[in-house]
Amino acid sequence: MSNPTPALVMENIVVAFGALKAVDNVSCSVARGERHAIIGPNGAGKTTLFNAITGVTPPTAGRVVFEKEDITRRSVQRRARMGISRTFQITNLFPSLTVDENMQLAVRGNGAGKFSMLGAGSLDGEQAERVALALSASRLDKRGAVVVSELSYGEQRQLEMAMALAARPKLLLLDEPAAGLSPAERGIVADIIRSLPDDLTMVLIEHDMDLVLKLVERVTCLNNGQMLAEGTPNEIRNNQLVQDVYLGKAR
Ligand SMILES: Nc1ncnc2c1ncn2[C@@H]1O[C@H](COP(=O)(O)OP(=O)(O)O)[C@@H](O)[C@H]1O
Ligand SMILES: [Mg+2]
Repeated sequence: MSNPTPALVMENIVVAFGALKAVDNVSCSVARGERHAIIGPNGAGKTTLFNAITGVTPPTAGRVVFEKEDITRRSVQRRARMGISRTFQITNLFPSLTVDENMQLAVRGNGAGKFSMLGAGSLDGEQAERVALALSASRLDKRGAVVVSELSYGEQRQLEMAMALAARPKLLLLDEPAAGLSPAERGIVADIIRSLPDDLTMVLIEHDMDLVLKLVERVTCLNNGQMLAEGTPNEIRNNQLVQDVYLGKAR
């Protein structure tokens, strides 16, 4: 945490689906350059909280402040232009296109649909450089010409990260980037996260406690939509409430 200015502030966020408060009064502040994890059992509200930050599901109550601006009611696209980037899901990849072609679509970006390939020209120099850096950061620099369906599952998850990084975000949101990966593949994802630029603020949802606690400076633990605990990885590891609800349920 080199800089104490908060990049992201969540203030009393509530996201209700009918009677269910999927996120129930969560407040949390993430400093610029901080690596912050959101952990908690399945259904705790982690992804819903991300959706409130990105604008996919605006909160029912509370405020989201990014770089001192209240973005609570801003559109997804506007937030993306401000520098908030989340990983694309594998379901957003084009399996019959190459890694490079998927990256081109990602940087032309914001709302470009399938048909934008029809007019595909080459990227300008600045865009090409962003793609090259993002592929290299995601350890895919040798895989540009490979068709996505030929990539391993782990490489497809790396490509999701590369596509998010190509936007040169200020805030990167990763929702379970290592889910479903083998131990070796998880190690690669951990290395990628560790070597991201120092000034990039990152919020990481991860189910694997051992992995996540090695990668972040602060941790927020949710349970039933509510904040159960917040602290350093060590504090969280030793927190009795966290051990009871989280470790108890998640093996
Ligand atoms: N669009 C939705 N409509 C209704 N309920 C939802 C919706 N999205 C999530 N939920 C519910 O909100 C709760 C939190 O879900 P989620 O944020 O996906 O949890 P997590 O990511 O921590 O596993 C769950 O009970 C889930 O069923
Ligand atoms: Mg989730």
